[in-house]
Amino acid sequence: MSLQASTLTKADAIIAQYPQKRSAALPLLHLVQADRGYITQEDMAWVAGKIDVTPMQVLEVVTFYPMFRQSPTGRRHVKVCRTLSCALRGSYALMESLEKSLNCPRGETSPDGDFTLEFVECIADCGCGPVVQVDHALFENVAPEKAGEFTQQLKASLKDANYGKQTPTPGTPEWNG
Ligand code: FES
Repeated sequence: MSLQASTLTKADAIIAQYPQKRSAALPLLHLVQADRGYITQEDMAWVAGKIDVTPMQVLEVVTFYPMFRQSPTGRRHVKVCRTLSCALRGSYALMESLEKSLNCPRGETSPDGDFTLEFVECIADCGCGPVVQVDHALFENVAPEKAGEFTQQLKASLKDANYGKQTPTPGTPEWNG
């Protein structure tokens, strides 16, 4: 599958913003991932050609930053913060509950393709842990004992035709149980 025509146009506009082409590596990779959902080796070679570096140099960037993916995610990408503040408030117990209720081991995608479940490092909302990011939405205070309720919401979202059409407003998380 090739990238959309609009992605190709945006890529040229992004590169033109930088005095050195290679400085556009990160925004170009974000652009590709927003288009395809993940980054293939073919994409890396394409980015390398656009900014005059080697595909290996692009691979180094992709593998350095955890937000870049080289494989597709499930329909909902669930990221549980495991850094200190969230860990002290139960993110490890929360993860264990979610693994069972979503039928998805951490670091993997569920067999039905509905969920990808991962631990991540601090996502800068440390006062409201445990914090979970689902796709582009942030959920605060997801205590382990609320894992069941949270799971029900995640499963319900799979049937919600309006899911993802509302842009989350910073400071007003959609779920704050
Ligand atoms: S420690 Fe979890 S958001 Fe910072």
